[in-house]
Amino acid sequence: MVWTSRPVSRLQGIIRAPGDKSCSHRALIMGGIASGTSHFSGLLEGDDVLRTGAAMAALGAEVTQTGPGLWQVTGTGERGLTSPAAPLDFGNSGTGSRLMMGLMAGYELSAELCGDASLSARPMNRILAPLRLMGLTDTAKPDGRLPFRLTSTRALKAITYAPPQASAQVKSAILLAGLNAQGTTIIEEAKPTRDHTERMLRGFGVEIGVTRGAGQARTISLVGGQRLSAIEAAIPGDPSSAAFLIAAGLISPDGNVMVEGVMSNPTRSGFFDLAELMGARLGAEDTDDAAGERLIDIQSGSAALIGRSVPERLVPAMIDEFPILAVLAAFATGTTIVTGAEELRVKETDRVKAVVDMLRANGVEAEEREDGFAVQGYGGPPPGGGLVETRHDHRIAMSALVMGTASQKPVSVDDVSMIATSYPDFLGHMAALGADISDS
Ligand code: S3P
Repeated sequence: MVWTSRPVSRLQGIIRAPGDKSCSHRALIMGGIASGTSHFSGLLEGDDVLRTGAAMAALGAEVTQTGPGLWQVTGTGERGLTSPAAPLDFGNSGTGSRLMMGLMAGYELSAELCGDASLSARPMNRILAPLRLMGLTDTAKPDGRLPFRLTSTRALKAITYAPPQASAQVKSAILLAGLNAQGTTIIEEAKPTRDHTERMLRGFGVEIGVTRGAGQARTISLVGGQRLSAIEAAIPGDPSSAAFLIAAGLISPDGNVMVEGVMSNPTRSGFFDLAELMGARLGAEDTDDAAGERLIDIQSGSAALIGRSVPERLVPAMIDEFPILAVLAAFATGTTIVTGAEELRVKETDRVKAVVDMLRANGVEAEEREDGFAVQGYGGPPPGGGLVETRHDHRIAMSALVMGTASQKPVSVDDVSMIATSYPDFLGHMAALGADISDS
């Protein structure tokens, strides 16, 4: 169903950031294999995360919601995970499916894995290749796409692996498999990716080594056979979801948006760093800590933005924020150029194509590059008036709706249902700020 975002003269208000999607998946996964009962608050109840919870339950953990955002997980501990009775359906979730492939590889079990059309088109060989080196068998076709069956005999061997892509999902899958592998699993990361798996494993009592190498390189090591103990944790706010609200404040003619409780982690802060390079002045105040992460409140207001070449070192730390960056680039003066971001081609959809089409449909000049895109900024509100094809991609849908709040004419999207995968309260939060978004 088509939804339309109409321009409004002001966007103002204070919003609490929803729980971080990456941390919420990891909390359910790690809680599900720990000894004892973990308690989480502020867990993101998006469809992606709920499917990870359902998959952990199907493998033997007890996963119970005790209130809004409150979850109790009793892990299988020494008993370990067991084969599920039915296929595990990960819906739209790359993170859930990939991390759980790594996790399941370490237990004696067999499971059929599947997902929606978008997930079934995404590459899984990046996960299967290192897991096969560790001893996993699977029935994937050569292209590695879902659905397929994973069978593990639990006799995993540790490996030393340098992932060819900058991918936290690949790193995390191998580390989770490494928990039950013989020997020390070592990941050599050329560019640092989000480090929530490392931080959260430590929280659950696992020893994990991280050493810095030349440039941005890091080596992460984990000795197999370690056990996790249950924890109590608050899930930090999601910087990737906060980015939509912050951007909405920046492009609004009269913007004053505060997002509270946002996780401040250098492996996730690229979008905020870049927005500042483009001329935004973001207020950031330290607040509490949550689950080993710092939290900040971020404030954004109307800004005259300038196009920039995105420094490649920021790319992994803002990998999910390129659709909303493209919106800022459309309002900016001058050209914004993205390179070194070839991973965008294999997200929920080909995000290079989807972003360029979103902008062109709204009167903004943009061009595809093999590993990124270039946007000719409009130097103020772009024309708008387009209908954006979302292609099952929640971040394309949210970006287009944010664009419509301040473009010259309304911006429509062909679907909003998939926004619930990562940010079920998005439309409510935008309405609370004063946005005019509706299905008519
Ligand atoms: C994620 C890692 C990133 C990111 C995704 C969440 C994670 O994917 O795009 O939304 O939680 O580990 P890649 O590992 O493919 O870069």
